[in-house]
Amino acid sequence: MQTVDTTQALRALVRQWHREGLRVGFVPTMGNLHDGHFSLVKLARAQCDRVIVSVFVNPTQFGPNEDFSRYPRTLAQDQAGLLAHGCDVLFAPAVEEVYPFGAAAAAAVEVPVVTEMLEGAFRPGHFRGVATVVAKLFNLVQPDVAVFGQKDYQQLLTIRRLVTDLAFPIEIVAGPTLRESNGLAMSSRNQYLSVEERERAAVIHQTLQAMRTAVQAGQSADAAERNALITLESAGFRVDYAAIRAADDLSPPVAGASHTLVALIAARLSATRLIDNLLFSRT
Ligand code: PAJ
Repeated sequence: MQTVDTTQALRALVRQWHREGLRVGFVPTMGNLHDGHFSLVKLARAQCDRVIVSVFVNPTQFGPNEDFSRYPRTLAQDQAGLLAHGCDVLFAPAVEEVYPFGAAAAAAVEVPVVTEMLEGAFRPGHFRGVATVVAKLFNLVQPDVAVFGQKDYQQLLTIRRLVTDLAFPIEIVAGPTLRESNGLAMSSRNQYLSVEERERAAVIHQTLQAMRTAVQAGQSADAAERNALITLESAGFRVDYAAIRAADDLSPPVAGASHTLVALIAARLSATRLIDNLLFSRT
């Protein structure tokens, strides 16, 4: 496995692979990799001849009071993990490589509507930063396939919109959420939690499952959301949202319609903000 930090070196490799007719897969990450990330690498490996993983903690997707500066940076450990999981190239650019005019002055990509609710409402500017860096990384890497996790469901929908609307010739593949044995979705931010909080954080997944069960038993989405809020608050969470939405565009579900639904939660345990979701059919 090679580690490269310049666009020039990366493009030379990808150009050569494309000349050989190889299919190139790409997994963008912010590093501090865990088995959830590695499952996406495995998915890319299964569908592509070569796999590139980027590690870049993107400043433009963090709000002014968020954890950009303390976000865990563990490149040597990530390198070892990627080597073991069959990654061909680790792309780890510096901020200046990605934002040559500085992050604040960079051209940006806006995906309206789907980014304005839920996460977007609580993290203003977050999806603008995500869409911008992903568009930029797509142009730097020029992959045939890019893999994203369902764990960040609204992000996945945003990327699908971006790729369709701006006609990126890239196939988007989604990977299922990997969980700890107690159901807690794996996340780099879990390491901010104490041992006791990690156990308590399993309530998020349990609540998502309860929301699914309630709706499938005929309860209204509103009632299921209200009960979820009560459960989470009783367990000591500060809840940003516990919502049931149409899976295709995150619009409020229409009673009786047959669309696939998604239950989504964002909640804080002490200072740590956790998100998770669960896709399900109404019946
Ligand atoms: P990061 O949080 O590092 O996540 C990188 C990818 O791993 C995302 O597609 C995310 O959905 C996926 N992922 C995270 N936890 C997962 C889990 N438990 N199971 C399966 N997949 C999981 O998401 C980002 O970085 C950034 O916003 C990025 C897209 C890289 C843009 O900066």
